[in-house]
Amino acid sequence: MCHSVGVLEAVLLVGGQGTRLRPLTVTTPKPMLPVAGVPCTEHQIARARDAGVSRVVLGTSYKPEVFLEHFGDGSRFGVELVYVTEDVPMGTGGAIRHVADHLLSGPDDPVLVFNGDILSGHDIAGQVRRWREDTADVSLYLTRVEDPRAYGLVPTDTEGRVLQFLEKPSTPEEIVTDQVNAGCYVFRRRVIDAIPTGRPVSVERETFPGLLAAGSVVTGFVDEGYWLDLGRPLDFVQGSRDLVTGRAPSSILPGPVGEAMVVPGAEVAQTAVLSGGTFVGAGATVGPDAVVEGSVLFDGAMVAAGAHVRDSAIGYGAIVGSGAFLDGVVVGDRAVVGPGNELVHGARVWPGVALSETSIRFSSDR
Ligand code: GDD
Ligand code: MG
Repeated sequence: MCHSVGVLEAVLLVGGQGTRLRPLTVTTPKPMLPVAGVPCTEHQIARARDAGVSRVVLGTSYKPEVFLEHFGDGSRFGVELVYVTEDVPMGTGGAIRHVADHLLSGPDDPVLVFNGDILSGHDIAGQVRRWREDTADVSLYLTRVEDPRAYGLVPTDTEGRVLQFLEKPSTPEEIVTDQVNAGCYVFRRRVIDAIPTGRPVSVERETFPGLLAAGSVVTGFVDEGYWLDLGRPLDFVQGSRDLVTGRAPSSILPGPVGEAMVVPGAEVAQTAVLSGGTFVGAGATVGPDAVVEGSVLFDGAMVAAGAHVRDSAIGYGAIVGSGAFLDGVVVGDRAVVGPGNELVHGARVWPGVALSETSIRFSSDR
């Protein structure tokens, strides 16, 4: 019998490029984008800590320095933080294996592993408890979604044993369930050590199917609480909105705020209307008669008089000119959308881009 070190460890996978969230991720790694003003990673660390985790290993690759600058040694966040960086991205399984040398857990101890872009309210301690009761090799947190195609499909039997793992099914026949991998695993430490080293490995495409084929005990922990993957722009904006309105749980925020959360120091004109869980970051400004619905204004962003911004993310120091209309749009850091422009559904403005001459004057006039 191996001895437990008595420390519950968690690995956060935060090395992805966040391609779908460009241009926001050109400067900031996806897990560090502010969701209701707080990086997703910080929400996750708080939840892990609340569930008894005292040591967190960050598996980084893309822009590791951004994590280090914000979290330091972790003491401000109530955990010990360890950084492990891949020179080249090793995939989800490769990243888990790559951090193994930095884990203190014994071979039969549980190690939590989180995808770094998930906002959830699931019962983490309950999942670890169930993993122990089931003497499982791996337990997967599962949730139900309307459209499972963008996720890993995980059908289970009546006892909760995982039957199959189908990552991002490509044919209708493969859509056998609406139950998907929600991106939080409890691994028996020795299972992590058995992942091959020195090459990229996908935990979803290789490790899980391999464990199932080998007859390992892989169980599902279904939790129907709040869950959101922040991988796409509108989902990221929704996550922020849900935290502000209190739909999504958080132990960091002061509690549901309601229609809008405005960081002290931001300037919002009296005649501006903020609604739908809008977040206004530090030093951001919203001009007279502007309307901002369900959106995220990063620090220093500006929405000028009479502009209308809906379901959008406006990057650090970006400017939306007077009378402009934006719906479902991402504006990169320090970009300028000139007065009167209309941008809709999925439009993305790259950092620093100015959309009109007028807007360039507008920005330097400030
Ligand atoms: N360190 C490191 N290295 N981290 C990585 C790498 C890598 O090479 N590749 C991805 N990650 C991290 C990402 O930063 C992210 O936090 C997490 O691993 C998952 O990667 P995503 O790119 O967000 O994957 P996905 O959303 O398409 O799919 C995954 O999550 C779904 C749930 O949200 C899969 O696990 C699906 O099965 C799952 O349903
Ligand atoms: Mg994701």
